Amino acid sequence: MTPAAAPAGAKGLGAAGKVPRHVAIIMDGNGRWAQQRGLPRAAGHKAGAEAVRRALQAAADQGVEVLTLYAFSSENWRRSDEEISDLTALMRFYLERELKTLEKERVKLKLIGDHSAFGAELVERLDRAIERTSSNTRLTLVIALNYGSRAEIASAARRLAQRAVDSEIEPAAIDEAAIAAELQTNDLPELDLLIRTSGEVRLSNFLLWQAAYAELLFLDVLWPDFDEAAFAGALQTYAARNRRFGGR
Ligand code: IPE
Ligand code: IPE
Ligand code: MG
Repeated sequence: MTPAAAPAGAKGLGAAGKVPRHVAIIMDGNGRWAQQRGLPRAAGHKAGAEAVRRALQAAADQGVEVLTLYAFSSENWRRSDEEISDLTALMRFYLERELKTLEKERVKLKLIGDHSAFGAELVERLDRAIERTSSNTRLTLVIALNYGSRAEIASAARRLAQRAVDSEIEPAAIDEAAIAAELQTNDLPELDLLIRTSGEVRLSNFLLWQAAYAELLFLDVLWPDFDEAAFAGALQTYAARNRRFGGR
């Protein structure tokens, strides 16, 4: 688990810079952004969707391999029906509009969480976007939708227990690698950098296992104000950190 060297041709950090292979973002603060402007929360989510486009472009330009975005947590169902339907409508709209961008920029879309809860039309569009972008290799965009880290770990434990009951594996063979292999992130590189916007300092049930040795960065900026400069700044902060992984 050593930090990745900058890929050839990566812009922004210079030859000596360390570009994180896998960056995840808890995109928080849409509601407060709207509130500060006297606007409905939906306006904050709309502005937040524009920030997603900027972050995606910045990640691709900087040579990041995987960008994982927390878009909807399994706890976000506690919000009003109106807000949930606004968010669903926005996702449908942006997916349709941005599919061409994903194809043009050679971005592969992947989902974690259980997106089947979102209604047939959105599910179909999501599945189509995944299929249409499946051979892209420049950047993997992972959207966490109806995602909860504890549920993901519990489901991994359940599957391993079942395999032990079925005598396919020995309980003693259940090690860290076996659990990691059952997580939805099993095909992704280790998480290097986890960013949360909005000033809140918590993980809100996001990538708890995967963040074991990630660098954490909590920013005061509200998500709709997050731009290319903020992304570049986050990568500079990361490059200046000293990752020790328990060594000295
Ligand atoms: C993040 O912004 C977007 C989602 C959780 C979908 P919030 O809606 O949580 O914004 P705040 O935290 O209320 O400002
Ligand atoms: C975390 O933000 C979830 C997403 C950004 C999608 P929340 O706004 O839901 O988290 P809490 O409730 O402040 O912990
Ligand atoms: Mg919030």
